[in-house]
Amino acid sequence: MRKHGRPNPLCAACLRRYARPDGFEAVPHQTARTPFHGEKPMSDTTAPPAAAHGKAAAVFVCILAALAGLMFGLDIGVISGAQQFLQKDFGISDDTLGWIVSVMMLGAALGALVAGWLSSHLGRKRTMILGAVLFVGGSVLCGLAWTPEVLIVGRLVLGVAIGLASFTAPLYLAEVAPESIRGAMISLYQLMITIGILVAFLSDTAFSYSGNWRWMLGVIAIPGALFLLGVAFLPESPRWLMMKGREPEAEHVLQRLLGNRDAIAREIGEIREQLKTPQRGVHMFMQNANFRRSVGLGVLLQVMQQLTGMNVVMYYAPRIFQGMGYDTESQMWFTAIVGLVNVLATFIAIGLVDKLGRKPILYIGFVVMAIGLGVVGTMMKLGIHTHGQQFFTVGMLLVFIVGFAMSAGPLIWTLCSEIQPLKGRDFGIGCSTFTNWVANWLVGLSFLPLLNGIGQAETFWLYAAFNVVFIAFTFWLVPETKGVTLEQIERKLMAGQPLRRIGQ
Ligand code: BGC
Repeated sequence: MRKHGRPNPLCAACLRRYARPDGFEAVPHQTARTPFHGEKPMSDTTAPPAAAHGKAAAVFVCILAALAGLMFGLDIGVISGAQQFLQKDFGISDDTLGWIVSVMMLGAALGALVAGWLSSHLGRKRTMILGAVLFVGGSVLCGLAWTPEVLIVGRLVLGVAIGLASFTAPLYLAEVAPESIRGAMISLYQLMITIGILVAFLSDTAFSYSGNWRWMLGVIAIPGALFLLGVAFLPESPRWLMMKGREPEAEHVLQRLLGNRDAIAREIGEIREQLKTPQRGVHMFMQNANFRRSVGLGVLLQVMQQLTGMNVVMYYAPRIFQGMGYDTESQMWFTAIVGLVNVLATFIAIGLVDKLGRKPILYIGFVVMAIGLGVVGTMMKLGIHTHGQQFFTVGMLLVFIVGFAMSAGPLIWTLCSEIQPLKGRDFGIGCSTFTNWVANWLVGLSFLPLLNGIGQAETFWLYAAFNVVFIAFTFWLVPETKGVTLEQIERKLMAGQPLRRIGQ
């Protein structure tokens, strides 16, 4: 087993011990420190294996994880292939199309904003049921949309659904999954987002032969319905039940999930310990300038992730390939290849994050992305006439995708959850997650006006320039958090150290 000083969020073994509510990263609880990777767990030696029915319940939770991640990814990926067909059908302008694409992210930002409140008042399970119902309803409405306005409403509903589900499902998972499979599930959830994007691209490709955008948009109701079915059979989160003072019910659920008295007692003890540290984010934000710095950094990191230009490709890939001179069929297949490369390159991050550290990977990523987009823009300026030029340009776009998936894709989420002090963690991560969706919305909305306003090549150069600027931001502002405990980060942040020094 590899040894590293602190838990690595992309390391499955570490994730088994530390789970973070939104599923992107795992953090140890500071009041009751659990052993880091490579250390011997304090009480694990006495832990008996989970009972068979506990394992079955865990597998069920696992399926739920997969479906929630898949829905997230499907939502991101599905619109790219449908655009040209629905634009033709409705005869709408690029501006209206931009709204149809981006309103989903606006909905997701709204959903994420209310998800914390809903999941704490209604409970995790009921919030997920609401998310799933809205997801199915939104997909069906998009598929049936009789006017562009109805489509915009459908996409907004879909966004709210994904905002709710993308906050609550991983939170539920982190609370419910037995320790032994928690890490695997969080990794699975992350990977499923990229797989969801790929599946949406492939399904779009399949439906593109008939040009049926209604099926493209409507078919994702099926995974939504499966998610709804799965959630309906799940128990409520024991942690939430205990937060509400319903300990006997929590024990009953744990009986189903763990099926072992010692394990149940340990889990109840841990939950009680965790509940002792109240979240005081808003209060801390008003009072403490150092906390405001870490919240600001989280927000900036998410703006950086979105301004890399990744979602421009996720939402408009066929259009970009059209600009390179490809026919509809090739556009769709190249888009599917983009999705596949995105999935595969995510494994590079998983393999490298713990060896190289966050900053070197971000530097490499931003350089690769800047080169990729810069060259794509240059080729568009010079004119793409031959097959060789077309292939080269597609290749450079794929280089850009690799640059994102191996760096900013997973690592920004990782950093965002590492830099917040314990008492303000929920608030800090909430702010950065909300920013992710708002920035995502602005990128989706502004791409077509940029294309029509300043030109294709110039738009790609603009995003390339952002990536160059982010190299400097990484140098000046981003801390190296590899091999540093969250306690150390918090201590240095609160001591007023410059942000880039709060890590190593
Ligand atoms: C980003 C999404 C993006 C996805 C692509 C995520 O890390 O937050 O906005 O669509 O990566 O794989």
